[in-house]
Amino acid sequence: MSDLQKSRSILQAAKKVMVITGAGISTESGIPTFRGEGGYWRGHRAEDLASPEGFKKNPRLVWDWYGERRTLVSKAQPNVAHLALASWSKRRGGISLLTQNVDELHERAGQTDTVLLHGSLWKNRCRKCKFEHRACELAYPTLPRCKVCNEITGPGVIWFGEALDFSSFHALNLCSIEADVILTIGTSGLVSPTADFIKRAQTKYNTTLINVNPTESNIQATIELRYKATEIIPELTAD
Ligand code: APR
Repeated sequence: MSDLQKSRSILQAAKKVMVITGAGISTESGIPTFRGEGGYWRGHRAEDLASPEGFKKNPRLVWDWYGERRTLVSKAQPNVAHLALASWSKRRGGISLLTQNVDELHERAGQTDTVLLHGSLWKNRCRKCKFEHRACELAYPTLPRCKVCNEITGPGVIWFGEALDFSSFHALNLCSIEADVILTIGTSGLVSPTADFIKRAQTKYNTTLINVNPTESNIQATIELRYKATEIIPELTAD
């Protein structure tokens, strides 16, 4: 039996499947990953831009980066991996999809109840008073200010050094306890707390882990499917 066939039968037999997606699922929609090739912007590492310290130091630079990301994502389309997951979730039930991506491509593919672990590119959030709202501006010639407290407001994403929202954290905890199988797609497995919950599920609950990633990552899976997401997800999720 091939790894693909094995994975298909494991997924078919599972009562609860937790799907965790990372930047890799959106690369074939034209959105670069954070690490590796394309992981730098104007010589800055994502970690230096996507952090409270980076924003405090240079909000203009950070907003220019997010403006470019919004522009890129606004032109991107969900790919066949996003679409196949959305259709599978509707047909099958028992699937929870949690994503580290802020691009909302899962939602645009028709995925419902996606847990946006790292927030959304299409929101603004004030770090001072926590006021959050939807926002779709592609550029801010003048830095945006919070409508409530007038502080310079930032993008509605969870940065390095920031805690997940309570509801996301709760979903991550619960799903990782309940899942018979975790399917990870396109993540380096380096970012906490998601990576920690995956490890805990494996070591504490002996959860089967299927990992889709064309290259080696920090994830030690039961089955490694070394493919690009678009090459394998449609087949993996077909009836
Ligand atoms: N299909 C599947 N996986 C792919 C593909 C593809 N077509 N292309 C690349 N990958 C894999 C890479 O090999 C890499 O292991 O996707 C992974 C992307 O890793 P990261 O860029 O680290 O993305 P992720 O794990 O989601 O972590 C990014 O960190 O910067 C923060 O909060 C930010 O959510 C973001 C997180």
